[in-house]
Amino acid sequence: YTKGNFLQIDILEKVNNFYKGELYKNNFALKYLKDRGLFDSTIEKFQLGYAPDSIKQFKFFKDANLNKKELISLGVLSENGEYPRLIERITFPIFSQSGKIIAFGGRTITNHPAKYINFTNTKIFNKSKTFYGFNFAREHILRKKEMIIVEGYMDVIMLHQAGVENAVATLGTALTPEHLPIIQKLKPKVIVAYDSDSAGINAALKASKLLYSKFFEGSVCLFPEGLDPADVVKRGEDLEKYFKETIPFDTFIIEYTIKKYDIKNPLQKKAAIDELREYIATLDEILKEDFALKASRYLQISPQKLTSKSKPHTQNIN
Ligand code: GTP
Ligand code: MN
Ligand code: MN
Ligand code: MN
Ligand code: MN
Repeated sequence: YTKGNFLQIDILEKVNNFYKGELYKNNFALKYLKDRGLFDSTIEKFQLGYAPDSIKQFKFFKDANLNKKELISLGVLSENGEYPRLIERITFPIFSQSGKIIAFGGRTITNHPAKYINFTNTKIFNKSKTFYGFNFAREHILRKKEMIIVEGYMDVIMLHQAGVENAVATLGTALTPEHLPIIQKLKPKVIVAYDSDSAGINAALKASKLLYSKFFEGSVCLFPEGLDPADVVKRGEDLEKYFKETIPFDTFIIEYTIKKYDIKNPLQKKAAIDELREYIATLDEILKEDFALKASRYLQISPQKLTSKSKPHTQNIN
């Protein structure tokens, strides 16, 4: 960072201290977090806070002498500077790899239709390159040689509270190629542990395809139908059980692609083959052969059918 950016980070630290203080003035917000199962020590570690109404926030910005233009450029205020981005929400500071605050996310506690609001990208925050919780998880990832990737803030927080401290989250965005160099540096096995709902499974499929194609070793962890890691921790279930029984990326990609089709129907079987063939075509030669062989066994076809060019399906229209 340039000297200027240090000052900007400092502004976010000040805003965070304000939000943290507000949490203890708002019994409803504090109770919300307690009801979700967070310990006081967890709230402190992740520096959760509460963004109060707009009037209180502007009073603080003024009293603290914070520059309006800076607050806009850091994402604290809307583009036109008319309102704070987070209003009446639990606040989650997002940390850089070295533990400096670079942005915030906020959760409604009153059923606002936007459950979470995250800062948009700024000059110091790029969400496609950020893993939430990485600053806390880093040493644990190195020690265990394993990194767990989850969907949300609460998943990271609850897993860490339960002693699973090698978990990080992609925040409402997909895992992107820009995230990969961060993983590459630590060379862990990767466990994708997204929500076990259809959106989560589709996202896990995309993440697996990306990771496998770039030679990352790892697997997908599935929870009981509809649950996410935070729910599993809240229920007091044994997490080890789930993290021990994960599905390797290649197996997951094959099984969950095929699952989308009824392969007893020849047309649908062709569609499943086409979808897998399209992915296989993007793979490096080394992976291609191995993956095609595995997939061919599921479909009871020859591996060549998955590596050769697709014959277009032509319909006789006469
Ligand atoms: P809880 O309900 O607090 O347990 O949240 P969750 O993390 O389980 O939420 P969900 O599985 O729906 O979403 C996963 C992540 O996507 C969240 O942690 C957010 O980062 C993001 N997200 C969820 N809802 C929204 C939304 O309405 N807008 C935006 N921008 N992001 C969201
Ligand atoms: Mn989710
Ligand atoms: Mn979800
Ligand atoms: Mn979830
Ligand atoms: Mn959840």
